[in-house]
Amino acid sequence: MTISKDIRYVGVNDHQVDLFEGQYVVPNGMSYNSYVILDEKVAVFDTVDRNFTEPWLENVRSVLDGRQPDYLIIQHMEPDHSANIANFLKVYPDTTVVSSAKAFTMMGNFFGGDCAPNRLVVGEGSTLSLGRHTLTFVTAPMVHWPEVIVTYDALDKVLFSADGFGKFGALDVQEDWDDEARRYYIGIVGKYGPQVQALLKKAAGLEISTICPLHGPVLTENLGHYLNLYNLWSSYQPEEKGVVVAYTSVYGNTKAAAELLAETLKDSGCSKVTVYDLARCDMAQAVADAFRYDKLVLATTTYNADIFPFMKEFIHHLTERNFQNRTVALVENGTWVPTAAKVMAKMLECSKNLTFCETSVKILSALSEESRAQIAALAKELCE
Ligand code: FEO
Repeated sequence: MTISKDIRYVGVNDHQVDLFEGQYVVPNGMSYNSYVILDEKVAVFDTVDRNFTEPWLENVRSVLDGRQPDYLIIQHMEPDHSANIANFLKVYPDTTVVSSAKAFTMMGNFFGGDCAPNRLVVGEGSTLSLGRHTLTFVTAPMVHWPEVIVTYDALDKVLFSADGFGKFGALDVQEDWDDEARRYYIGIVGKYGPQVQALLKKAAGLEISTICPLHGPVLTENLGHYLNLYNLWSSYQPEEKGVVVAYTSVYGNTKAAAELLAETLKDSGCSKVTVYDLARCDMAQAVADAFRYDKLVLATTTYNADIFPFMKEFIHHLTERNFQNRTVALVENGTWVPTAAKVMAKMLECSKNLTFCETSVKILSALSEESRAQIAALAKELCE
């Protein structure tokens, strides 16, 4: 794939991965992106996952067409991008590895202290001339690890953005960018909103016409759309109005309450209502949607004087990612002493700027006339 006259794509698609980063389902696979700039000097950007050494080296070989690379630029040390540093240097031993000081420390920890004998340490604002192209390195700590750098090529106005602006999904599958980029961002980078905001501020000072991330498609058009989503996500603002109803249910009674609420909301004119059974859904999708919409209903059972495990995990995912700026409603079920609402409220007490609905729903084992009335009142309050 040609990105510009001098820039080529040499990444790979992974349709074998079962869980990306050990936890995320990726039904459409994953891409590990890598790029080459062919100038007077040749620079290769990042390596790929360890299961794709040979296809990646073959892509590089094909693009180099007999030339030798001068630089291997490592923007991020997570092994989906760094696993093949040593394999690359076995083939091209004279290459200088270019990376941040923190990355070189990590490289030593992962691969041994002598893994990159020729090295160039770069930091904020460092530049590297390849000939026509001058690369400027920009530090991007915690997007998504502390050693991350991104790279700007002023000639072609390309930002090599590391994990930023990435998404789940291989490049040989066509799918909507927003949904899988949101699930990727919220899941993987969501905790680090302030650091992403800092990178966006730096990026605002650059004229960018192409974004080359380490996952997902190269972005060339309508860049404002992607930048706007990143700004919303990293500032923890909802993207749109809508209600997520997330529930757990042991014998179906809390499920019945969640479904009744969802139906009532739809009947009351709430067009965007999404229901998740947290024991059975993709938890990462439920978390991403909790950040997408402005209202969240949590419905669960009292369990061992606590709450049902899947709801506990869900709320933990939210708070770990700085869930804030939303309206929240609580629905509890309990057969002898319902305490779930109290436990959920306690788990959310450090979350900033949450508005709790005045109506709460208490179910004693199964829906009753009283709890049905509470659900009707809650639906009304959520639709106001
Ligand atoms: Fe795609 Fe943080 O690695």
